[in-house]
Amino acid sequence: GKDKELIRSSWESLGKNKVPHGVIMFSRLFELDPALLTLFHYNTNCGNTQDCLSSPEFLEHVTKVMLVIDAAVSHLDDLHSLGDFLLNLGRKHQAVGVNPQSFAVVGESLLYMLQCNLGQAYTAAMRQAWLNMYGIVVAAMSQGWAE
Ligand code: HEM
Repeated sequence: GKDKELIRSSWESLGKNKVPHGVIMFSRLFELDPALLTLFHYNTNCGNTQDCLSSPEFLEHVTKVMLVIDAAVSHLDDLHSLGDFLLNLGRKHQAVGVNPQSFAVVGESLLYMLQCNLGQAYTAAMRQAWLNMYGIVVAAMSQGWAE
C-alpha cells in the first residue's frame, strides 16, 4: 500500500547512485559511532576517516549494503523470501564482531542519508515506512546471533 509507494518513490533516484549515497550514510555512521570503523579490518592502516571512506574495500562494502537495501526495496511484497539470505548475512556480521545493537545506529544513518537527499520530500510517513522495512531486515539479520 502507501508504505511501499513511499519507499519505492524515494529509492528510485537514490538507487541509481549507490556509492555516493552509501558514503553519506557511512560517514554519518562513523560520526555517531567512530568505534565501528575499526571493525573493517582492512581499514586499520588508514590515517583518518576520510582515507578509510575512500578505500576500495570499504567502498565495496558500501556497495554491498546498498545492494541489500535495493534487494529489500525490490522484494517489498515478499520480504520474507530474503529471510535465509539475511540470516546468513547476520551470521557473517556476528563473525566479524558486529554487535546487532549497532544496526539501530545504521538505521539512523540511513534515515539521515534519505533526509539529506530528499529534502522537502522527506516526510514523517516516509520515515516510518523506511523504519518499518529496515526493522524487518534487521530482525532477520539479528537471527544470526540467536543461537
Ligand atoms: C560484509 C562490517 C552493516 C551488508 C561485511 C564485512 C564487514 C562488515 C567487516 C566483511 C568484509 C567486507 O565484506 O567488507 C559491517 C559493519 C556494519 C555493517 C561494521 C555496521 C555496524 C551492514 C549492513 C548491511 C551489510 C546494514 C546490509 C543491510 C554486508 C554484505 C557483506 C558484508 C552484503 C558481504 C557478506 C559476504 O561476504 O557474503 N560487513 N557491516 N553490512 N556486509 Fe556489512
